[in-house]
Amino acid sequence: MNNTPIQVSKTYLPTRQDYYELLESVWDNHWVTNNGPLIRQLEATLTERFSAPLKVVSNGTVAIQLAIRALDLTGSVITTPYSYVATTNTLLWADLTPIFVDIEPEWFCLNPDLIEEAIRPDTTAILATHVYGYPCNHEALADIAERHNLKLIYDAAHAFDVAVDGQSILTWGDISTLSFHATKVFHTIEGGAVLSTDPDIIERLQLMRSFGHAGRDFLSLGINGKNSEFHCGIGLLNLARLEENRAARKRISDLYRELLSEMPLNCLDPANYPGLDYNYAYFPVFCWDNAMREEFIAKLNAEEIYPRRYFEPSLNQLDFLAPELRRSCPVSERAASTVVCLPLYPDLPLDDVRRICKIIRKNILQWW
Ligand SMILES: Cc1ncc(COP(=O)(O)O)c(C=O)c1O
Repeated sequence: MNNTPIQVSKTYLPTRQDYYELLESVWDNHWVTNNGPLIRQLEATLTERFSAPLKVVSNGTVAIQLAIRALDLTGSVITTPYSYVATTNTLLWADLTPIFVDIEPEWFCLNPDLIEEAIRPDTTAILATHVYGYPCNHEALADIAERHNLKLIYDAAHAFDVAVDGQSILTWGDISTLSFHATKVFHTIEGGAVLSTDPDIIERLQLMRSFGHAGRDFLSLGINGKNSEFHCGIGLLNLARLEENRAARKRISDLYRELLSEMPLNCLDPANYPGLDYNYAYFPVFCWDNAMREEFIAKLNAEEIYPRRYFEPSLNQLDFLAPELRRSCPVSERAASTVVCLPLYPDLPLDDVRRICKIIRKNILQWW
């Protein structure tokens, strides 16, 4: 049994030896950034994997910022209140107005039934998150976007390798953005990507990520969204372990679900999502109220186990939002006050999962 602190995630790293060997070429050619061989290799591999052109960028936040500029968004954007803060921040940073629309209660993604009444004359896009890697209702969102002439961006930071009916969901919408942060199922330490099936959009994204600079010309407004050979090297090596890591994540998730099955907790089950090929990125558990959640986190913390309140607060309740942006979103607010993500990473020992579940079960039975 492992009694060292258990965090919600633990970054998978390739062996030092493999990393040093891969980096030999960097020392040989001194090409460390600016579209070097390793970034191009990573892009080619991922483009093939997702059957969609993809550009690697410096992180998942910059990926959304680039998507916003590449699609020339203005005015207001319909968005989810249930995501990481970066989803909202990127809109505010671009001087766009987020219009928070509540989520649906089954998979916690943007609720298409509530969008149309929230669209304003200046609305130019929908920015939705496949939260925990569970896909948004794309059919409904794409239909609304088309009828109202809106762009559709997916924050797919959690959705690496998620497919529905055998097709990657990263090809949905005008642009999908990914985060390759160290906490994600696939990572380059820091990093991210933008994907689009539209070659013109990909060309704009590529230019914008490099200052709008091509050869001797400065062709558009741009920023520095590039990533380095050192980061992409980690990514290339991590790709080789994806299947194995995913199988380990599945084993852990299945054990959590089995051991918590009789508890009055909502543990999302990918088996209930039709046609879903899931990546087992997170194991969110929804308690029946906030007091219960806080009690159960305190009990785990006392044993040096540190689950996380992903995602809290509901983004429509961020302190720094202007009062007029705080539309009520009761489903999201309830989710944010009751959710806790349990530790999940490939080498988490199954005995630790049993120990975590034992603490949760004992605590719930006492409480009940
Ligand atoms: C849903 C979501 N969007 C965006 C981001 C931002 O990604 P990054 O940390 O790579 O900037 C994250 C994560 O960290 C996230 O979870």
